[in-house]
Amino acid sequence: MNDGLTIRPFTFSIDLENCRITDADNHIKRNLADMKNQYFYKEAYDKMMKEDNALLYEVYEKLVPEKSGELIQGLSIVHPGKVGKEYFMTKGHFHSIIDTAELYLCLKGKGMMVMETPEGEWAIEEMIPNKAVYVPGKWAHRSVNISDTDLVTLFIYPADAGHDYGTIKEKSFRKIVIEENGKPAIMDNPMWNL
Ligand code: PA5
Ligand code: NI
Repeated sequence: MNDGLTIRPFTFSIDLENCRITDADNHIKRNLADMKNQYFYKEAYDKMMKEDNALLYEVYEKLVPEKSGELIQGLSIVHPGKVGKEYFMTKGHFHSIIDTAELYLCLKGKGMMVMETPEGEWAIEEMIPNKAVYVPGKWAHRSVNISDTDLVTLFIYPADAGHDYGTIKEKSFRKIVIEENGKPAIMDNPMWNL
């Protein structure tokens, strides 16, 4: 752990077999209850919630001082599953300092990075092992797991970027990724901007 005053060069190790950073400072878990109103298939969501508040994704972080010039890095693990036809996914966010970028490197599994700008542009890029996705500044981003195994990605972004979850929580993303005839399909989000 680096406290800001005494930051020194450090290393960390990814245990890809067990989908974790072995010496992480932070381990975040997000469950179905954290995704209220984010899934279009509300009946399916309610039914699943009654049965089990399933674990959807986890994040392991190495902490650094949250100041300009430093980089936060960690591992994101989105578990496999669906709510109705919609795949398990992260909440998604803009960065609080909106023009800060992020790099994602896929290490395991298969997914989609769903992105959009406040001006209405959107992009969806496939994530497969050893492929990186560059998310430019101003682009909100969400990882979607389209496979039946864990989707594991390494992320790196400016330490002072921060997370703005509010905009997405309110408006959602313009596009969602669903399973149609056994395959992933991109659909206009009927809930967008409600
Ligand atoms: O900053 C990032 O983009 C990642 O560290 C994400 O926080 C991580 O993938 C989890 O997604 P979210 O923060 O949208 O819940
Ligand atoms: Ni981010």
